[in-house]
Amino acid sequence: MNKLSFSQNLLLWYSSSVTSYPWRNTKNSYKIWLSEVMLQQTRVTTVIPYYKNWILKFPTLASVAQSDLNDILKAWEGLGYYARARNFHNACKLVRSQFDSQIPNNFTELIQLPGIGNYIASAILSIAFNKPYPAIDVNVVRIISRLNSIKTPYPSSKNKIHDYLSYEIDNNSPGDFNQALMDLGRTICKPSNPECISCPINMFCKAYVNNNVNSFPIKKNR
Ligand code: ADE
Repeated sequence: MNKLSFSQNLLLWYSSSVTSYPWRNTKNSYKIWLSEVMLQQTRVTTVIPYYKNWILKFPTLASVAQSDLNDILKAWEGLGYYARARNFHNACKLVRSQFDSQIPNNFTELIQLPGIGNYIASAILSIAFNKPYPAIDVNVVRIISRLNSIKTPYPSSKNKIHDYLSYEIDNNSPGDFNQALMDLGRTICKPSNPECISCPINMFCKAYVNNNVNSFPIKKNR
């Protein structure tokens, strides 16, 4: 029997353990974008009720674009980092005026919108548009630094991590691949006390094999 690949193991684990967050039963790019903006600096359990309320109040991109900033900020109240809400409002207005309310499905146009950086652009492209862009945040940096025993701290390790994931990402389910890594980083490959025994990709993990998981990611000298 052939051994399953890294990506196959990861996806198998994801499909058997997938938690049904409200933003995971849609391909609507507006809803996926919103969820990633909320999730970028806030934990999942906090985001869930805010996300649900928001979708009731602002079911479409146009409803955000047409709303007053005060109403937007009111719905964001309690989530913190209010620049995210201001940027999202401005970006929705731009998408409405410049792209006929269609969220761009390419990196070049997405990255120019306020509040959209590499990570959110890649998350939207992979989850909503099925394009193979790895979404790399601190959790993913930690996982891949351990997996490949990367001896340089972030951001020097950035290209290595990006190249590795661009090669490994599942081209049929890039959104699931990225979200599986997010879940893995939150539940198993945690910053401290990682649960390597239960990890679906521990057989590929150099740090696990070498019994030095806690040494990664390498920290920058201060
Ligand atoms: N963190 C950032 N994006 C996420 C997503 N789509 N699902 C779960 N956690 C996340």
